Order: sequence, then structure tokens, then C-alpha cells
Amino acid sequence: MLKLAGPPAAEAVYEELRALLNRLPYTPHLRVVRLGEDPASVAYVRLKDRQARRLGLSSQVDVFPASTPQEDLLAHIARLNQDPEVDGILVQSPLPPQVDFNTVLEAIDPKKDVDGLTPLNAGRIWMGLEALESCTPAGVVRLLKHYGIPLAGKNAVIVGRSNLVGKPLAALLLRENATVTLAHSRTQNLAEVCRRAEVLVAAVGRPGLITPEMVRPGAVVVDVGINRVGQDERGRDILVGDVDPRVAEVASALSPVPGGVGPMTVAMLLYNTVKAALWRRGERAG
Ligand SMILES: NC(=O)c1ccc[n+]([C@@H]2O[C@H](COP(=O)([O-])OP(=O)(O)OC[C@H]3O[C@@H](n4cnc5c(N)ncnc54)[C@H](OP(=O)(O)O)[C@@H]3O)[C@@H](O)[C@H]2O)c1
Repeated sequence: MLKLAGPPAAEAVYEELRALLNRLPYTPHLRVVRLGEDPASVAYVRLKDRQARRLGLSSQVDVFPASTPQEDLLAHIARLNQDPEVDGILVQSPLPPQVDFNTVLEAIDPKKDVDGLTPLNAGRIWMGLEALESCTPAGVVRLLKHYGIPLAGKNAVIVGRSNLVGKPLAALLLRENATVTLAHSRTQNLAEVCRRAEVLVAAVGRPGLITPEMVRPGAVVVDVGINRVGQDERGRDILVGDVDPRVAEVASALSPVPGGVGPMTVAMLLYNTVKAALWRRGERAG
């Protein structure tokens, strides 16, 4: 079975970006906004900031208290939209209950939307127009391409229909000429639907949801899920995906958790930051 490891595929993205950055007379600037101290958000934001700097981008994290009123966050986003030094804006989710994520997304300048989640970029992806593409779905497609997995004409089933992962991934796989099915919590006979998949993507957030009986022998399986199921003796989170590890005995390829889609998400965020910087200056990533 082929292990769809994220780090080598992410490194290929970074190599491409380093070559591009060497030729730029400026340094693209990423601004990540975080509200509150949710431990997973703190860890993700630190990872994105560190990786951005490692690549040679300029990066700053703006931290606000969890009690920040929505108007204050929107005013901050408006300032970042106007700031000519800022190329990319990312507001880390989940947000505290007084802040509506969709309202926040609508406030971000789509040209600086490096998470690819604003309605304009989400719509452009569906229309097959050039866009800043949502990082996790773009990372899944990039991971599959890195390992030479053919997509055209294949039956692809995505379990999960969120705006963050499932829906934009459906648009991207459609663009690759896959025949796409989106399954969700109301899908009847999920096992049967999944067994039709030549490419099966799980993006749900339920450990072990995808069992070997749900996987067609020889299918390619991508596990987007990240589930915290406890802590090890050193107090570190134990992470598992949505796919039962026994699926490795049935699938022809499987992405691990951690170390599969996660590193690709960060790589595509930095790709988008460089792309946004070029776009604002009327240039292209190539
Ligand atoms: N690797 C990465 O970089 C990365 C990035 C983003 C997210 N994630 C992970 O990916 C997972 C999904 O994230 P998300 O933001 O898309 O989650 P989400 O917004 O909670 O969406 C979950 C989706 O799964 C569906 N679902 C729930 N229970 C189901 C079941 N029993 N059978 C079939 N479908 C079911 C839901 O259906 P309904 O629509 O019917 O409710 C929903 O569409 C999470 O574990 C998250 O941590 C990983």
C-alpha cells in the first residue's frame, strides 16, 4: 500500500515557492488573526506563522481576547484590507460565539483571502475561474497529484459537505474531471455509497468512521479528519483521522494522520499568500 505522506508533497510546493520568492523584489506579508486561547488554534497559528517565516515570508499574528466584540474584529479586518503592506489575511476558526464566521469572511478582501473561503473565491472555484482556493481541498488535490493518482473519469466520494472542506473539494475534483459524490450525515447507506469510490475522502471529524467494509479493494483513501482522542505521557495530543487504520489492508493508497493532509494545508496557505501578493501587483504565479 502506498502511503500518501504529506511532508514530501508539501516540500515540493515550498521548492516551487522558494524559486518564485528569489525572483521577487518584495517579501509577501501574511497576517493571521486569532481570538482567544483555544489550544488547537494556538498550535495551528503558531505552525502557520513559523512555516511562513521559514519559507522567507513576512508573517505577523494579531491576538485578541476571546471577548472581542464582532465590530472590533471587523474594524481590524477593514484596516488590514486597506493596508498596502498586507498581502494575505487569515482569521483562525473556531471563533467565539459572539462572532459569526460567515460575517467575518464576507468582510475580508477576496484578493487577500488566503484561506480561500470568502463567497467570491468559493463561487469562482465552482465556476472554474482562477481563485484563491481553500487550502485543505487544494492540498488534497495537490497531494493526489504529487503521488501520480489519476482523477479524470474516476468515481470520487467525499464524506463531509462543509464550506471549509467537502464542498470546495467537490468543485476541485470536478475540475479534475472526477465524477463526484458528496455524502453527509443524512446520506442513506453510507457504506454502499463509499464502496463505489475509487477515490474516497473522509472529512467528517469522527474517529474510525470509515471501516474496511466501506472501502472498495484498491481504492485511494484520503483522511482529512483530525480528532483528538487523548494525550500521551508527555501531555501531547494524540491525533487520529476519520479512517480506521485497518483500511490500510484494503486500500491501494492511504494518507496518514498526522502527516498527511495537514502539512499540505499549511503549504497551500503559503502558496496562496505568494499568489495573492503577485495578483495584487498584476502578476501571476505562473
Ligand atoms: N487536515 C487539515 O488540514 C484539516 C483542515 C480542516 C479540517 N480538518 C478536519 O476535517 C474534519 C472535518 O472538518 P470540517 O470543518 O469539514 O467539519 P464540519 O464542518 O463539522 O463538517 C463535518 C461534515 O461531516 C458530516 N458528517 C457528520 N457526521 C457524519 C456521519 N456520521 N456520516 C456522514 N457524514 C457525517 C456532516 O454532515 P452534515 O452537513 O449533514 O451535518 C458535515 O458535512 C475535522 O476532523 C477537522 O478537524 C482537517
